[in-house]
Amino acid sequence: MKENVSKIVLAYSGGLDTSVAIAWLKEKFNAEVITVTVDVGQKEDFKAIEERAYKAGASKHYLIDAKEEFVEKYIKPAIRANALYEGAYPLGTALARPLIGEKVIEVAKKEGADAVAHGATSKGNDQVRFEAAFKALAPDIKIIAPIRMWGMNRKEEVEFAKKRGIPISEESKKYSIDENLWSRSIEGGELEDPWNEPPEDAFEWTVDPREAPEEPLYLTLTFESGIPVAINGEKMKLIEIINRLNELAGKYGYGRIDHMENRVVGLKSREVYEAPAALTILVAKKDLEKLVLNKREYRVKRGLDDYWADLVYDGLWFDPIRIELDNFMERLTENVTGDVKVKLYKGSLTVVGRRSPFAIYDKAISSYDSQWFPSDEMARGFIDAWLMDSVISFRKKFAR
Ligand code: ARG
Repeated sequence: MKENVSKIVLAYSGGLDTSVAIAWLKEKFNAEVITVTVDVGQKEDFKAIEERAYKAGASKHYLIDAKEEFVEKYIKPAIRANALYEGAYPLGTALARPLIGEKVIEVAKKEGADAVAHGATSKGNDQVRFEAAFKALAPDIKIIAPIRMWGMNRKEEVEFAKKRGIPISEESKKYSIDENLWSRSIEGGELEDPWNEPPEDAFEWTVDPREAPEEPLYLTLTFESGIPVAINGEKMKLIEIINRLNELAGKYGYGRIDHMENRVVGLKSREVYEAPAALTILVAKKDLEKLVLNKREYRVKRGLDDYWADLVYDGLWFDPIRIELDNFMERLTENVTGDVKVKLYKGSLTVVGRRSPFAIYDKAISSYDSQWFPSDEMARGFIDAWLMDSVISFRKKFAR
């Protein structure tokens, strides 16, 4: 690429790829490289990351704490939409990418940079998500994807790093990990064979269910308009609830996901995740929705929930329909207020109780102990009318 760029802002994780990218970009473009690390709740040594950035040749480093923003602008809508991609993955990585992209653009504008860069590969989803944010927020900025361009394999990368004195801590890392408040993604290594059971060393947030406590743990989650606000009656900010649940449910071995995933790029991958808090919240919240939404609301929402997860997974965070859906979801979950009681036990979570001032369920109507309503006559009339076209068409087509 014969681009004329003088200042590049790089989304910097601190890993081997993006560290090598700093030096590679500098050499290739003869440009200044500014690094941006966004704290979305990954448990990292940010001081060490900064040092590595400078050692690799960054002229300036930004560490941006975006945890609160991640919760407010990304996790809350995901909770409202019960977001589980293909019924399994709570989208931690997919939700964080547009936010990281947004922060990179903020820095690029402030620094007057003429290009931005990311460390995603040509096989993955993250390249699409980063570039979607770059294009939506700064349509004219140049985008550079060094890992897609340089054609080095792992060994050559390590060589490249060593030659330039870039410290590499993860030469021996077994998996590719991406983590934030909402989930921990684990891929690569042994996991690439979908027949291999994920080894215990893939997991960090959850214990082996066999090692979990012998007694179950009961928790009551309180929701207000679809968002969790308390655990066991103790009011907390959502970020604290997430941290607390990651810890509690993780201790009970709950929150592991093993998933054959359809990527944006037309290939499949075997993905393993840990998401104790996300799964606890989503399972409880879906249950509460069944108590307070009517049948039509529930059915429409169920379809839109899936659609929302697909959109966000596919890198379309900035598509207007996502924003419109968020408004609709907010409205639809206004009455999703109440308590859900869950039981954690050796790797499982079961909802064992729910209650809400907005419940549509009414024991007096539904109970078998109450008056026989509807009456036999009413029931006959209802069934006749309900089945009419179905019975007629069945007879015409299959029972001639
Ligand atoms: N498959 C997940 C996603 O596309 C996780 C990707 C994890 N990324 C990584 N660099 N390990 O959202």
